[in-house]
This record gives sequence, C-alpha cells and structure tokens, in this order.
Amino acid sequence: MSYLVLNNLTKRYGSTAAVDGLNLEIKQGEFISLLGPSGCGKTTTLQMIAGFVEPTAGSIVLNGRDLNNIPANKRGLGIVFQNYALFPHMTASQNVAFGLEMQGIKKAECADRVADTLKLVGLGHLTDRYPARMSGGQQQRVALARALVIKPAVLLLDEPLSNLDAKLREEMQLELRSIQRSIGTTTVLVTHDQSEALALSDRIVVMNQGRVEQIAEPYAAYEQPNSEFVGGFLGKANIFQVLADLSAAEPSVRIAEALIALDGMPMPTASVIVRPEKILFSAPQPSALPGIMKTRVFQGNHWLCQVKTSVGDVLVIRQNDGEPVAHEGAIVHLRWRAQDMRPVGAAV
Ligand SMILES: Nc1ncnc2c1ncn2[C@@H]1O[C@H](COP(=O)(O)OP(=O)(O)OP(=O)(O)O)[C@@H](O)[C@H]1O
Ligand SMILES: [Mg+2]
Repeated sequence: MSYLVLNNLTKRYGSTAAVDGLNLEIKQGEFISLLGPSGCGKTTTLQMIAGFVEPTAGSIVLNGRDLNNIPANKRGLGIVFQNYALFPHMTASQNVAFGLEMQGIKKAECADRVADTLKLVGLGHLTDRYPARMSGGQQQRVALARALVIKPAVLLLDEPLSNLDAKLREEMQLELRSIQRSIGTTTVLVTHDQSEALALSDRIVVMNQGRVEQIAEPYAAYEQPNSEFVGGFLGKANIFQVLADLSAAEPSVRIAEALIALDGMPMPTASVIVRPEKILFSAPQPSALPGIMKTRVFQGNHWLCQVKTSVGDVLVIRQNDGEPVAHEGAIVHLRWRAQDMRPVGAAV
C-alpha cells in the first residue's frame, strides 16, 4: 500500500516546468532519495510536499488524504533544509522543544520527548548547549531532532548534510540511516550527491529537467541504469558504441579491435555502459581492447587508470590487491564480461 503518492505533480514558472508530471508512490517507512543535477526540480518537489510551493497541476496524497488544500503547518511533516537555521538564543533542548510547544503539548511530556529525541541523535550530553558552541555536525543533529520530535508523518530533508566536511558527512550519513531505520519514519531526501543517495535510500528517484528518469533500488540503479544519463550520474561510466558482428562463429559484438562473444546474453543496443571497476587488464587476445596507460592514480584502496584506446579514453578502476599495475606509457589490454555491458541506447 502506498503511503505518500505524487500524481502528475507539476510546477510551472512562466513557460518553464520546474517539475513536469512527476509520478511517485512511496511506501510507509521507506527512505526515498530524489537525485539529480542542479535545477532538475528536487527542491521544488519537496517544497510542494511540504506545502510551501503550490502545484500548478497534480496532487499529493498522504495516507489517503489529499494535501492540496491543507496548509504547511497542518500537514504534520518534519523538515530539515540545507540552511537549517537554529535559534541562536536557545539551547539545543529549547530549539527542539519549540515545535512541540507550538502544538500546545504539555510541559512535562514536552521535556520527555525532547530528551528522548536528543538522545536518539546522540546529543544527550549537550542539551543545554547553545548553537554557537556546537560543531556543524552537532547543529545538524539538533535540526534533525527538531524535525523528528513532532513524530512527523514524513521527514523531508533537503541537502541536510551539504554544509558538513566530507568525513563528518559520511559519519552523519550512517547515523541518519540508522536513526531512520530504528524509528521507521517515511523519509524523502533531496541530494545531488550520488554516493549519499546510494548509501541511504531504499529507492532512488533519478530526476532530469523536472522529470523522472528512473526509479530503482540503489544496486539496480547503479548496475542497470536505463539511460546514459542515469549511468553517468550514478557513478563513473564508460560508454562504448557497439556493432553486431555477424561473421563470428558465435553471436558477438565488436567494439573497435575487441570481438566480444555474447555468452548467451541478448544482442545489446548500439551503445553500452561498462563500469570502470568491471574492466580487467589482460594478456593480448581478440576479445581485448588494446590501449596505452595514460594516467595512473593511486587512491589507497584502489588505482584509478585512464587508458588511451582507439575509441577514446577508458576509465579503469582496480582494487589495490597488492598486484603491480602497469606503468604510465605501457601497452595494456582491457577485457570485460559480456554481462557487464549495460545496453542504454537504441537497438543495433
Ligand atoms: N521561485 C521560482 N521562480 C522561478 N523559477 C524557479 C523558482 N524556483 C525554482 N525555479 C526554477 O525551477 C527549476 C528547478 O529548481 P529547483 O530549486 O527545484 O532545483 P533543484 O533540483 O533543487 O536544484 P539544486 O540542486 O541546485 O538545489 C530551476 O530551473 C529553477 O531555476
Ligand atoms: Mg535544491
């Protein structure tokens, strides 16, 4: 059963559609990410759910109730935006209590819920601290507690971690995920960070120019993108043009010098995506693509290589397993499995 349903949700500003006929069904307890490049309509979508932006067309239905004529403050949603301004003259507890007091909840219950929620986000020891004396990550947790304390029907997060440095951001991602899993609040996260979406979501909605490109679980979105756009947005991707080779003994495709047997896979489309970590260095052979190691960058747990071939530069990522990797300038041969070619274009 769907809990939050967006039907043909549309927002136009003049002649441009910020959000263009978006359809999405979210289950109760699900963690959904809206992912896409700047300007694709993520924030506008979230703001329409929140009730801050009025849709031009379409509807938003929460738990069977149409939200259309319900004002933002009556929707019962928890919201954390990128600029999660806390009240500077209030302690962590007072900041979190603010929303509850607005709802007219009794002092004693209020105090219990504030204490529990601050504990939940790992701030049980800082309840009387003022924002100016907290780190960015701690302030972020207060903002999250403030959204959660009202026991929202849906938690809406708009790039909530983007002000944090990379390491803290990764820690907060894990924490956010575990908090969300433990309390089971239906959550919609807006991000343009693909690793954040992959790490946190039950499903990812990839958006492009106000429209949905693909909705999929993280693994499927990464491994089976249905377009070059999604493939390229969710990670590094090599795009190859493919020709069917009818002269070969078994069904095969040709990518420049490489003749690749399909191994029972269906004939792919005219272009395919191959992820850099699926490409191996091999001995010279008819199924391998020859090239020259152009750059080789050591990144601790893996090598990031750029190999110059007759079809352009190919990215290769090899785990640092202790084996030596060819030097820059060396001739190399690239091989990958037929099933690692993801079709993304028209039929051959
Ligand atoms: N109030 C407004 N008036 C006119 N155009 C707007 C308004 N708000 C948003 N837009 C336009 O709608 C489109 C979508 O904007 P939106 O803020 O939803 O993008 P976004 O995906 O959140 O981008 P970002 O990742 O940069 O935050 C953009 O082209 C933007 O310029
Ligand atoms: Mg935005």
